[in-house]
Amino acid sequence: MASTPKNALSLVLLSTFVLGSMVSLSFSCPTRCEREIVWTLYAHQIGKGEDRNQEESVAPVNSTDNTRFGSIVTNNWPVFNALPLATANIVARARGTHTKAGPAAGDWFTSLSIVFEGARFNGSTFQVMGITEENGQWAIVGGTGELAIARGTIKHTVLKNPGIIGNIRQLDIHAFYTPPAVNANLISIQ
Ligand SMILES: *[C@@H]1O[C@H](CO)[C@@H](O)[C@H](O)[C@H]1NC(C)=O
Ligand SMILES: *[C@@H]1O[C@H](CO)[C@@H](O)[C@H](O)[C@H]1NC(C)=O
Repeated sequence: MASTPKNALSLVLLSTFVLGSMVSLSFSCPTRCEREIVWTLYAHQIGKGEDRNQEESVAPVNSTDNTRFGSIVTNNWPVFNALPLATANIVARARGTHTKAGPAAGDWFTSLSIVFEGARFNGSTFQVMGITEENGQWAIVGGTGELAIARGTIKHTVLKNPGIIGNIRQLDIHAFYTPPAVNANLISIQ
């Protein structure tokens, strides 16, 4: 039984729509897909003593100015996946510097590579910058490896933890990133 012209046109339009969807689906993935990550981690900062994980590498020029303006501190803070730290795993190191760039207590300009290790994101990094006052936000301005083309924010909050040496900073990460393109067999093509 022959279709009427009207039905035939609908069929053509429907086929075009279905084919179009299939084509756009097969091309949007697996070539390149942006992903979102929401993850809470904990950085442990120890400023003084034998176990310190930061060092003042440039002292303030004006030794009588107690604001420490001009000081540059190099940090290598372990980043844990849970609390309490004693039973948590280190999943990254926050490596970089913080520079006293103003007179107030919180005027520390911070520039970090958050270098992941272990099962998730091993070797990948977030590139992070911002001001480290007691609580605030850093920007994720880039990334490498699985975390390529990252952008987002890290809300940082100092937790009050009596009994633990140093500061624990809760890091609430919210970012978008684009892992390297893969072919249909999930093999990287970059
Ligand atoms: C050093 O800091 C002190 C205290 O803030 C200030 O009075 C003095 O002028 C500063 N010296 C120089 C050379 O900036
Ligand atoms: C992470 O990468 C390093 C360097 O390539 C490798 O030695 C290590 O075994 C990896 N760890 C895991 C858990 O995959």
